[in-house]
Amino acid sequence: MSILLLHNRNLSRRRHLSRIRDYAAQHGERLILVMKDPAWEREYADLVVAADISGTVATVGAVTALARKEASPVTAIVTFVEQAVPSAAACAQVLGLPFISTEAAYLARDKYAMREAFSEVRVDQPAYRLAGTTEDACTAAARIGYPVIVKPLIGSGSKYVQRVNDEMSMRQVFASLRQASWANFSYDPLRAQAEARYAGAVLIEGYVPGCEISVEALVVDGVPQVVAIHDKPLPMTGPFFAEIFFATPTALPESTISAVVAATETAIKALGITTGATHTEFRITPDGRVVMLEVAARVGGACVYQSVLLSTGIDLVASVLDLARGVRPALPGTEPCRLGAGPVTTARPVGHYLIFADQPGILVGTNGVDEARARSDVRDLEVYHQPGELVNVPPHVSQAHGHVIFTAASRDGLAATCDELARTIRLLTKPVPPS
Ligand SMILES: Nc1ncnc2c1ncn2[C@@H]1O[C@H](COP(=O)(O)OP(=O)(O)O)[C@@H](O)[C@H]1O
Ligand SMILES: [Mg+2]
Repeated sequence: MSILLLHNRNLSRRRHLSRIRDYAAQHGERLILVMKDPAWEREYADLVVAADISGTVATVGAVTALARKEASPVTAIVTFVEQAVPSAAACAQVLGLPFISTEAAYLARDKYAMREAFSEVRVDQPAYRLAGTTEDACTAAARIGYPVIVKPLIGSGSKYVQRVNDEMSMRQVFASLRQASWANFSYDPLRAQAEARYAGAVLIEGYVPGCEISVEALVVDGVPQVVAIHDKPLPMTGPFFAEIFFATPTALPESTISAVVAATETAIKALGITTGATHTEFRITPDGRVVMLEVAARVGGACVYQSVLLSTGIDLVASVLDLARGVRPALPGTEPCRLGAGPVTTARPVGHYLIFADQPGILVGTNGVDEARARSDVRDLEVYHQPGELVNVPPHVSQAHGHVIFTAASRDGLAATCDELARTIRLLTKPVPPS
């Protein structure tokens, strides 16, 4: 029996891959890894199939041919990367394996279709419109009211998502944002289809002020269960929105948590997500409104997997593998995990900070890494790049250059620890020499 993993290179997914390898071994399953240009990932799989998974039809063709050829039947299909979710759904449908439907997978990727699905069930969300030209964008933004957000329809990692404050700025940035919003996602299987469907338009949304959170849930037999909420305590006011610092459990008041959980459940059902993990992002406005940003039909990125495991003991990777094999994951009594009175006090304060070089260039070394690793509150610190490698910084990339995961005695202590670590750890670069 084999578990088939659809994957794209992601330097922050080493822990996921090693957990998947261990899980497969524990359950007597072979792990088949399907990805483009496999390299260091090879050590995690029993069989590695090099395949370009940037097209759904080709991916389904490659996977079904592989499944037919394999002596041991493929009994589960999983992915932990955003772009592969629709292809995984299509493969699962052909192979008759548990997964979300192809419709749900599409809705969880197409940001306009997702907004339409949410508006049908009255999930609170920003005003939104499509715009294909600068004139359309100015008209849409004037109707919505500045500031607005310009956003790719098929995006991820906040890439090319930008806050625009007034019409003059819109006239300056719209054309290049629209162009980048399509040109830079050619690796995405949905790009061509969506670009044609929307005639090259992008989304304009009302800017929602406030603090941002993300909500991890597991969906078992159609029933969503929220398992953790991360706050993103650093201000995220734009114009770009790199995610840097996550802290769990949430510091939100109980009444807001209830509203967040209710909105998460409604949204998951609206998209038709019936199994697997979800990662949902909200903004909580200064007057307490819980406003939906988006739902992804996968485990959260960055170090969310490790953070939830350390904080709550819930292993999202193993749970997703269970669900993909048709097994009910063993979850502890899951109220949304936060620190406070009552049974949920067991959620341990955990933070993670994504490390970026200060400047783009060639990585020449690091400062403070050993010092940070020696701290008893630092649980994991990885730098993903070696000296000599070229690194770029947001908004041009969303992938961090490393991470540090840490604990604190109290939820409130996490911010101070993060601040200390941010000041200690430095990735040093030198400029790229002119060619
Ligand atoms: N309407 C909005 N109002 C305020 N901030 C937003 C809005 N939409 C997106 N953002 C910011 O941009 C980030 C990325 O947008 P999101 O819709 O999550 O797309 P992506 O798929 O790139 O993550 C969000 O995490 C948030 O910080
Ligand atoms: Mg997002």
